[in-house]
Amino acid sequence: MNYVGAVIVTGASRRIGIGSEVVRQLAADGWHVFATWWTPYDAAMPWGSNRDEVDELLAVPGVVGMQADLADPNAPAALFDVAVAAVGPIRALVNVHTYDPGGGLEEIDATDLDRHLAINVRGTYLLCREFASRYTPGSGPGRIVNFLSGPPLVGSVAYAISKGAVHWMTLSIAGELAAKGITVNAINPGPTDTGWMSAELKTRLAKSNPIGRVSEPHDAANIVRFLLSEDGGWLTAQFLQSDGGFSQLAVP
Ligand SMILES: NC(=O)c1ccc[n+]([C@@H]2O[C@H](COP(=O)([O-])OP(=O)(O)OC[C@H]3O[C@@H](n4cnc5c(N)ncnc54)[C@H](OP(=O)(O)O)[C@@H]3O)[C@@H](O)[C@H]2O)c1
Repeated sequence: MNYVGAVIVTGASRRIGIGSEVVRQLAADGWHVFATWWTPYDAAMPWGSNRDEVDELLAVPGVVGMQADLADPNAPAALFDVAVAAVGPIRALVNVHTYDPGGGLEEIDATDLDRHLAINVRGTYLLCREFASRYTPGSGPGRIVNFLSGPPLVGSVAYAISKGAVHWMTLSIAGELAAKGITVNAINPGPTDTGWMSAELKTRLAKSNPIGRVSEPHDAANIVRFLLSEDGGWLTAQFLQSDGGFSQLAVP
């Protein structure tokens, strides 16, 4: 099989999640996808264990991967070692993973805050660093896509802090990597039904969206596909709001 390139996608195992949809769409576009996940996080969340969904993901043609805990600062280099051996030089990196158990100012202590920063900020940073240091222009134009959110995120203060850091990281890294031929962008997928919203909240959010529905995983995945394509090569250092106008035009 002649792949268009090799890509690493993090946070990929939940079938209902955005990462899983990104993996499936990129594989359908001809990418050789190295997916990564961390099922212990899911087991501790309201949606519960999703180990069977990993098998389903790895059954998709063109998809391989491994489990890795991105709280571990050694994980990104180890992950790249395995990925390069499995799929060859990595041409794109899509950081979808996130740690967000929730918690406001009076709940989040130093340990909680450090954990958010370790997974969401340091994990993303070290993956970007591995990507940049191993990137070879001969593998094709380089691409990094990070996932952000939209403030205010009341009740998820450590998550909000971490996403703010990834935003500025994205802009700074984009400036450094442009001359290497690597674009670096970020997406806010907007409120997306990935298992965290009640039916009542979903209805309320859909009503306040100017287009009249909440985001679906394929919406952000479509943007990733474009950013990774040849045609997406003129966009860099951008923060794209993939939310049907919700962040700018929310209907009261
Ligand atoms: N859903 C929304 O409404 C929404 C809104 C705004 C922004 N976003 C952003 O969009 C992205 C995708 O959202 P989502 O709802 O689809 O995400 P999600 O499913 O809640 O989380 C992504 C995945 O990250 C992985 N992960 C957690 N801890 C990890 C660790 N220590 N090491 C490695 N991986 C770890 C988890 O496991 P697996 O890898 O096993 O899946 C998790 O399922 C996230 O970055 C999120 O912040 C989402």
